[in-house]
Amino acid sequence: MDVSEVHNETFEIKDSVNPDMIKMNVFEAIATRRSIRKYTSQDVPMEILGLIIDAGRYAPSAGNTQNWRFIIIKDPSNRQKIAEASMQQLWIAEAPILICVVSETEKLKKFYGVRGERLYSVQNCAAAVQNMLLTAHALGLASCWISSFDEEVLSRTLGLPGEVRPQAVLPIGYPDEIVPAPSHYTMENVTYFEAYGRRFTNIERIMQNPLVFDKISRMISGFIEAGKDAMNKKKK
Ligand SMILES: Cc1cc2nc3c(=O)[nH]c(=O)nc-3n(C[C@H](O)[C@H](O)[C@H](O)COP(=O)(O)O)c2cc1C
Repeated sequence: MDVSEVHNETFEIKDSVNPDMIKMNVFEAIATRRSIRKYTSQDVPMEILGLIIDAGRYAPSAGNTQNWRFIIIKDPSNRQKIAEASMQQLWIAEAPILICVVSETEKLKKFYGVRGERLYSVQNCAAAVQNMLLTAHALGLASCWISSFDEEVLSRTLGLPGEVRPQAVLPIGYPDEIVPAPSHYTMENVTYFEAYGRRFTNIERIMQNPLVFDKISRMISGFIEAGKDAMNKKKK
């Protein structure tokens, strides 16, 4: 067995993941991703985790600054500390892996001043997070975007220097719950024409009824009850 030792942990080196395992297209992934807060104890293979990290580092970033850094947390006591720092959202520690997305702000401050430091640095990481959530979901994994945390406590736990700020914690695991889609504002409610506040009615028809996400989401919700039944049977 080919192995690698990293920080006293031994990792098995396996063949790389076959991209054919990704069965979902981008529309399905966007429409059916949910925030999942309950995970099975099944471990997440490192090669799968690699795909999720890769998706993060392929996100767009202002001036291609790529200020995101990803901290992988496996150790149960570290997971517990992070869950506690996240306003006692203790369910977070139950996920076998946490990925903490942190932002190196120095380069952005140097290139773009206050706007770089406060806005671009956050937006870049947010783009990476969304890529990662969609990829995790497309691979059959579950996650939840966590940004409710005590920044000081989390920074201390992760050993972050002053110019590096935590942006999000992503618990990664196999889902152990099925969650219905939350409601979404209609396109008419959230889209304006030419200036803020200028709505246009019938927008869905004008735009050729592009409600592909609502449709997929509705279709999937039809399977939710069946899925719940199957899960309950498996547990029994
Ligand atoms: C910036 C941000 C911060 C969030 N922080 C938390 C959090 O701390 N805890 C949590 O349980 N969910 C958190 N969420 C997840 C939202 O509650 C969730 O995305 C929303 O309810 C919509 O549900 P969905 O993700 O299933 O579509 C956060 C989401 C975002 C985008």
